[in-house]
Amino acid sequence: MSARRLYEDCPVGLALCRMDGRFIDVNPAFAAILGRTVEDTLALTYWDITPPTYDADEAQQLDLLERTGRYGPYTKHYFHRDGHIVAVRLSGRVVEHDGQRLIWSSAEDITDQARAADALRESEQRYRSVVETTGEWIWELNLALKHTFSNRAVERILGYTAEQFLALDTLTLMHPEDAEEVGNKLPALMANKQGWRGWLVRWRHKDGRYRYVESSAEAILDPSGELRGYRGVDRDITHRLELEEQLRHAQKMDAVGKLAGGIAHDFNNLLVAILGHADLLAESVKHDPTAYEDVEGIRHAGQWAASLTQKLLAFSRRQMTSPVRMDLNDATRDCAALLGRVLDDNIELRTELHPESLGVFADPGEIEQVVINLVTNASDAVGSRGTITVRTATVETVEAGEAGEAGETGEAGDTEADERALLEVTDDGSGIPPELLDRVYEPFFTTKAAGAGTGLGLSTVYGIVKQLGGTIDIDSELGRGTRVRVVLPLHEAPAPVAPAPTEVGPTKRILVVDDEMSVAVIVTRVLEAAGHVVEGALSAAEALAALEAAEQPFDLLLSDIVMPETSGVELARRCRERWPSTQILLMSGYAPNQALEMAPTEVIEKPFSPDELLRRVRDVFELSP
Ligand SMILES: Nc1ncnc2c1ncn2[C@@H]1O[C@H](COP(=O)(O)OP(=O)(O)OP(=O)(O)O)[C@@H](O)[C@H]1O
Ligand SMILES: [Mg+2]
Repeated sequence: MSARRLYEDCPVGLALCRMDGRFIDVNPAFAAILGRTVEDTLALTYWDITPPTYDADEAQQLDLLERTGRYGPYTKHYFHRDGHIVAVRLSGRVVEHDGQRLIWSSAEDITDQARAADALRESEQRYRSVVETTGEWIWELNLALKHTFSNRAVERILGYTAEQFLALDTLTLMHPEDAEEVGNKLPALMANKQGWRGWLVRWRHKDGRYRYVESSAEAILDPSGELRGYRGVDRDITHRLELEEQLRHAQKMDAVGKLAGGIAHDFNNLLVAILGHADLLAESVKHDPTAYEDVEGIRHAGQWAASLTQKLLAFSRRQMTSPVRMDLNDATRDCAALLGRVLDDNIELRTELHPESLGVFADPGEIEQVVINLVTNASDAVGSRGTITVRTATVETVEAGEAGEAGETGEAGDTEADERALLEVTDDGSGIPPELLDRVYEPFFTTKAAGAGTGLGLSTVYGIVKQLGGTIDIDSELGRGTRVRVVLPLHEAPAPVAPAPTEVGPTKRILVVDDEMSVAVIVTRVLEAAGHVVEGALSAAEALAALEAAEQPFDLLLSDIVMPETSGVELARRCRERWPSTQILLMSGYAPNQALEMAPTEVIEKPFSPDELLRRVRDVFELSP
């Protein structure tokens, strides 16, 4: 084969050109790179086919050529005939030909390679940006269990930048218990070159608190299949776990509340009967001192039981209350003044009240109960010496349950932040162990000696606060103290005016309805003793029959609210429709929402004393038109 043939058939582009760039000869492979024929190409110069953007590269290669007589190999770009740019691997050297210095070059088309390299770079960039922008924590671990890579997410989760994190002895940041478990499981996984899914691991944040992450990883194998390390994705689920915990706690409190409310309701009925009979009995034995004393004993115990029942009802948010607009500051001041006198001399009770009045819509008795319970707990916690601070302020809640101090959260001002009243009791006492913190609201949960505490204080407070549409939050550190924050809605409406009660009441015809026989009996006896004409019914159906049968409408329907089949509320509605002149008073151990909604029906709260019952009955007629 002749040298010329070799030249013509060579798959690599070959070109001979003068120092000024004019082509003297090119082989077909070279022309093909440019999409041209050989003749076509020979009409051009090197500069015609070189895009100007690469001038700097060219100058550098020319310089090399000048100095060494050789250039390349380097990546050179040409204009293809149809306008796109092709990449070649170019190299060459100076040759002497007939006394002339010429450049002899070889060019290999690497457009496909260059394209592949670009695509690779692009895909790498894409993955890098995904890895760096994702909220998931992505990392790599070598066989010595040292982190060798971490994306930026680690900073959000653990507070260290990726660089700082990699410089640490990272496994010491893992919770010791989790580190032990991982240490136990990992050898078997490594032996099988297996990864893991959904491990729950605690990592210590820079601030010292643990974050929960859900970790998944896969083994990194080298081309020969040997394990090189692990690559994983961890997700911070701390917030989710906190929400789940809150939900679980709320559900538990709800269930306990229902149970307590149910028990309290039944007890209330019994107590109405016990206290009512005791009152009647006291009346009939008042000339026999021994018997009278015994009855007093029954009344005392009954009242104590009634007060426990009240607390349970408060906890289960079924307490009947008479809310009014009141100033939280006034109530707190009065209550603190009272408590200050009874507290140990070595306990300092400070009050820091908001300079302006804080209107809340509550029963004054409820606010009093809240303050007394919180301060009593604080005083028990500080023992014989310490400081208790009762503070009121306003707070802005941006989201439910997330209260920030007004003024401290400056930026919250322009959003739909809702201003609320804060009542805070802080002590420097014993504190509450973290593991007990979510049990303290449970009724009957107490750490105090038998007889020293019933465990109903915080349950009562919890129920009252929830009923008032507020939130309660306890922050405590063992050995340092406790801070209880109660946040209540502010209420700016004017207070309703309560009419003054009067003394005497005329005889009325009353229909008493209660499915609890003992209650019906005692109520009837009390009313009859006061001169009223009473008929009794044990169900709504019986009551409706009695209403129907009466020649003249009754003056008053006095009915229990909670009864099987038809409730007192429904009975009241029908009665009001058919017999509008009949007044209605409902009796309840607790307040289902419907009872509250059907104002202006009067409701009397069980247990009640005979006096209280008579007064309420009288009031119904006094207040009606
Ligand atoms: N300020 C506080 N400091 C430390 N522990 C507290 C504080 N407040 C409440 N606790 C803990 O919570 C438990 C429950 O409190 P709660 O007020 O419900 O019941 P109690 O004080 O034990 O009894 P009661 O209030 O019915 O007399 C207490 O026994 C105590 O262990
Ligand atoms: Mg208490």
